[in-house]
Amino acid sequence: MKTIDQIPSFDFDPYDERELADPYPRYAELRAAGPVVRLTKYNVVAMARHAEVHAALRDWETYSSAAGVGLDDLRKGERWRPSSLLLEVDPPIHDKTRAVMNVVLSMPALRRMQGDFEAMAEKLADELVERREFDGMADLAIPFILKVFPDAVGLPEEGRENLLPWGDMIFNSFGPRNQRFQDATRTAETVRAWIFEHSQRKSLSANGLGAAVFAAVDKGRLEEEEGEVLVRSMLTAGLDTTVTGLGASVLAFSRFPDQWDILREQPNLARQAFDEIVRWASPVQTFFRTTTKPVIVEEVTIPEDTKVLLFLASANSDDRVYPEPEKLDIFRRNLDHVGFGNGIHKCVGQMVAKLEAEVVFNALLKRVKRFELLEEPSMYLNNTVRAFERIPVRVIPA
Ligand code: HEM
Repeated sequence: MKTIDQIPSFDFDPYDERELADPYPRYAELRAAGPVVRLTKYNVVAMARHAEVHAALRDWETYSSAAGVGLDDLRKGERWRPSSLLLEVDPPIHDKTRAVMNVVLSMPALRRMQGDFEAMAEKLADELVERREFDGMADLAIPFILKVFPDAVGLPEEGRENLLPWGDMIFNSFGPRNQRFQDATRTAETVRAWIFEHSQRKSLSANGLGAAVFAAVDKGRLEEEEGEVLVRSMLTAGLDTTVTGLGASVLAFSRFPDQWDILREQPNLARQAFDEIVRWASPVQTFFRTTTKPVIVEEVTIPEDTKVLLFLASANSDDRVYPEPEKLDIFRRNLDHVGFGNGIHKCVGQMVAKLEAEVVFNALLKRVKRFELLEEPSMYLNNTVRAFERIPVRVIPA
């Protein structure tokens, strides 16, 4: 048996600019070093192999989310925002809120929005194919998501420019209080005020996903304030992730044109293709857990109350499970990928993300024969989300 002082340790900073810009070589190094490693800079334990990350995500009793899924221990020190009632709680609280959100974000509930999603996708696809050259982020992923998702939630048009900065801020806050976090929180007060105001019933339309949360309040399943926190979870988790996922799709199909050809022949594989893109790109690269008791992992004893950094993106590129992980393969057996997490916290919004991707793919499948990357994409660095700044492409029409 080994203590955590006896396992391979690394002193690099995973939140350093160079690491975030190109983390995959480091992930391979961490996986090769062992099932559990130590990151001395932040005094945390980390897991980078699929088997351990997957197992930890499925064992909430040992690996708790209640101390937060970032580096900070939310139970200690000063708080700058209330905890999420989904992401940052364990059962039994989680059972109650998750049951409500499972219904609010279920496929039957989303079907009502599908027509609006499709109309926006068709309009954008028409414009972009007409132009031939465009940026997969600024011209496709961002305008699409910033239209359909806030519409679906029931937000007014005005003020939507606060949504991406809010997500950027929160996803940065799961890392250290570094310069990136400070920069992202520069506009914190205005952004925060808008988000908090628009998580309230009075700011939301009567028939959106937000109103569906408050319908659960009216049925006595939640308190009014809990409803507001849940609406805020959607506004936090539902934009930066999907914007990155859609951008990554444009990049993926430019890099793997054979996979686009397969999809053109079998458009019914669109959701499956997006799932593989989420494995391949892993928009959410990391999340933490905190041990509730001493736990033995492959002969290493991790003490109680230890922050454990789970490298989701590394697990998704572990060639023990995914041969040639850097390749996009729509037919890959990838059911256990952790791009949407796993276990009780597995992404409750994944049906929304898949529907958004499906309608965009369908609109483009009819019109685009090939995507060609005009230059390497530039990254937008965030402490948790591996996001893009620009993905310039040219399309060859079908
Ligand atoms: C491609 C897009 C998306 C990706 C890659 C993604 C990724 C993830 C991951 C990795 C988790 C697990 C967190 C954990 O285990 O601690 C998660 C949870 C969550 N996601 Fe997503 N997500 C996406 C889209 C969405 C959307 C569209 C929404 C809102 C409609 C959403 C809302 C949530 C919420 C509320 C949770 C917490 C669930 C819980 O703790 O029970 N996500 N997501």
